[in-house]
Amino acid sequence: MTATTQDAATRALARAWFYPYTLPDGRPLPSSHGGRVDAIHTTRARMLDAWLAREFTGDRSKRRALDVACHQGFFSIQLARAGFGRVDAVDVRQEHVDDVNLLREIYALENLHTRRGDVLAMTDAAEHDLVLMFGLLYHLENPVGALRRARALTRRACVIESQVVPHLSGMVDWGSYEYVRPLKGCFGIIDEIDETHAPEASVTGICLAPSTEGLLWLLHAVGFRHAEVLPVPDDGYEQLRHGKRVMVAALV
Ligand SMILES: C[S@@+](CC[C@H](N)C(=O)[O-])C[C@H]1O[C@@H](n2cnc3c(N)ncnc32)[C@H](O)[C@@H]1O
Repeated sequence: MTATTQDAATRALARAWFYPYTLPDGRPLPSSHGGRVDAIHTTRARMLDAWLAREFTGDRSKRRALDVACHQGFFSIQLARAGFGRVDAVDVRQEHVDDVNLLREIYALENLHTRRGDVLAMTDAAEHDLVLMFGLLYHLENPVGALRRARALTRRACVIESQVVPHLSGMVDWGSYEYVRPLKGCFGIIDEIDETHAPEASVTGICLAPSTEGLLWLLHAVGFRHAEVLPVPDDGYEQLRHGKRVMVAALV
């Protein structure tokens, strides 16, 4: 370790982390929740790994990836280690961008780049072979706009992971009982107005969480040609096993 890396490691050890991180010498970084929510992260990492092994085979050094709402960069780091030539990690909160920069120094990941940004304001071209949008959609008041952004940013594939709400189906009177439309999906309204200070929360406080069926329909509607719910390991995190959260792969 260089002196700079050693200093970064000392700073990382002095505080708590949302994700299960280990220093290159094997020392674990302190957890902000005593490891209580690690299973959700490790299950998602395993699901992403399994999907990458299928969809991004061979040399990835010419591939670019983007992790939108990267938080402390757990999945950005996974992609950087998986051999993507360039990984951009973006989050609306500067504190998270600073944390990813610290880990980038510790892990010496030169292919990892960071910036602060709001998903709805991102203007990158469709230059990212892979776009991740994990844990974000249900913290937004404009999830459809975010899905349109995701489509605009994606060259090949986008993987979205979200909390979902129970689905409603049926016919809806659309002006008259003689003119009806099928319900394609639904959103649940969740209040985070008093939690916008929380590191994982919405920045506006108004959250719209989709149903799985609605999310799949919307992904097609914004221009993806294929969207599928990814399989969950039998011993994976309960919410994913029970379909209360889903990971969906959408292809351009
Ligand atoms: C529940 S955390 C999920 C973090 C990580 N992607 C994961 O799945 O573990 C939500 C993240 O979204 C970020 N976020 C919230 N609103 C955002 C926005 N409008 N644009 C970009 N990031 C946002 C938060 O700062 C936070 O890091």
